[in-house]
Amino acid sequence: MGKMDEMNKMWRAEFAYLHWYDEFWFKDFGYSKVECSLAHPLIAVATEGWGTRMLSPVGENRMAVYLVTGAAGFIGSWLTEALVERGDTVRALDNFSTGKRENLAPWRDKIEMLEVDLRDEQAVAKACEGVEIIFHEGAIPSVPLSVKDPRTSHTANIDGTFNLLEGARHAKVKRVVYAASSSAYGNKNPLPQRESMLPGPLSPYAVQKLVGELYLHSYWKMYGLETVALRYFNIFGPRQAPDSPYSGVMAKFASMMLAGEQPTIHGDGEQSRDFTYIENVVQANLKAAAAPADKVAGRMFNCACGEPKTLNETYRQLAKLTGYKNPPQYGPPREGDIKHSYADISAAREALGYEPNVDFLEGLRRTVAWYREQHVAGSRSTAVARA
Ligand SMILES: NC(=O)c1ccc[n+]([C@@H]2O[C@H](COP(=O)([O-])OP(=O)(O)OC[C@H]3O[C@@H](n4cnc5c(N)ncnc54)[C@H](O)[C@@H]3O)[C@@H](O)[C@H]2O)c1
Repeated sequence: MGKMDEMNKMWRAEFAYLHWYDEFWFKDFGYSKVECSLAHPLIAVATEGWGTRMLSPVGENRMAVYLVTGAAGFIGSWLTEALVERGDTVRALDNFSTGKRENLAPWRDKIEMLEVDLRDEQAVAKACEGVEIIFHEGAIPSVPLSVKDPRTSHTANIDGTFNLLEGARHAKVKRVVYAASSSAYGNKNPLPQRESMLPGPLSPYAVQKLVGELYLHSYWKMYGLETVALRYFNIFGPRQAPDSPYSGVMAKFASMMLAGEQPTIHGDGEQSRDFTYIENVVQANLKAAAAPADKVAGRMFNCACGEPKTLNETYRQLAKLTGYKNPPQYGPPREGDIKHSYADISAAREALGYEPNVDFLEGLRRTVAWYREQHVAGSRSTAVARA
C-alpha cells in the first residue's frame, strides 16, 4: 500500500491511531509541522495545511502499539528490532540491570524508551496505557543467580509479572505474550517434553517462571486478557551477554574460545539442551501475537527446535568454528540445572504455524560470526587505546 492510500485510509476515520510517522510523511500532505510527543505517544497534533487536528486512539484504523519489557536484553532487543523493521510502534521498557543500551542503539530514535523497573507498580501501569500487545521478556533470567539470591529474582520475576498483568488488565491491553522457560519441566518428565506434562520446577527461577505462566492463564480465564506463554528452550545468538558468571553457555563458550580462553563444562557434558537460535524465537513471538485467540489464548507452547545437543557436542562444534584447539575442562555440576531438555514442538507448529527455520548448526555459524566481529572490534579498540 502506497503512502497516499495509507493516508486516505487513515483519514476516513474520524480519529486515527497515530504514534510514529516521519515528518516528511506529513509534508507530502501539506503539513509543515508535526508535533508527535513520545511522552504522549497516542496524541499527535498536526498544524498548518489542513489546520490543526487532534488524533486520538479510537477507530477501526487503529495501529497497534507494542510494549516490549526487557527490551535492552538479548531476546527483547531482537523483538524490538523486528517490530521496528516492520514499521510498528514500540515502547521499550527496561531497568538496564542486565540489558545494555547499545543493544537498542540502532533503533533508539524510532522507539519510546522507558527506564522503568518492573517492580514499580505505578510506572508499569503507566507503561501499559494505550498498548495493544505486550511481549514480556523482562526478568532476571538465571538459574544459579536464583539459587544464590532467590528473593531478588522472586521480586523481579513474580512481582514484576504480576504488576505487568495488572497494568495490562486496567489498560485493556489485548494480548500478553510471555517469555516462559523450559526449566518448568524439571527432570522428571519423559522426553520429549510436551505441554501436557505436569511441571517439575527445581530452581527458584523455574518456579518463578512457572508462576508467571499460571498467572497468565488466570488473567485469561478471569479477566479475558488474551495471554500466550512461550516456553523457551536455551535460546542463543548475537547480543547474548557473554560476560557474567551467569551467562548462557553458548555466548560464554563462543566468546571465550575466540579469546583463546578455556571454557569449563559443568558436569560430565552429557547433559543435553534443545538449543534454539534467536530468529526462531522472534518468529514464534510474532506469530503468538497475531494468531487467532481461539487457537492460542490462555495457552502455553514450547518454543524450541526439537533437536537436542549435548554440551560435549556443542563444545566440539564451537571449537571447530572458532578454531579453538583445547579439549573441554570439566567442573562440578551446577545446582538447580536440569539434565536434559528436549521439546516436542508440534503444538506450536499446529496452533501458531511456527517452524524453526534456522537449525542448530546454522545458528552456531551466525553466532560465532557475530562474536568474532565483536572480538575483532574489541581487540582493535584495545590496540588503539594502547598506541
Ligand atoms: N535466554 C534463554 O535461553 C531463555 C530461556 C528461557 C526463558 N528465557 C526468558 O526470556 C526472557 C529474556 O531473557 P534474555 O535471555 O533476553 O535475558 P537478558 O538478561 O538479556 O534480558 C532480560 C532483560 O530484562 C531486564 N530486567 C531484569 N529485571 C528487570 C526489572 N526488574 N525491571 C525491568 N527490566 C528488568 C534486564 O535489564 C534485561 O534487559 C526472560 O524472561 C527469561 O526468563 C530466556
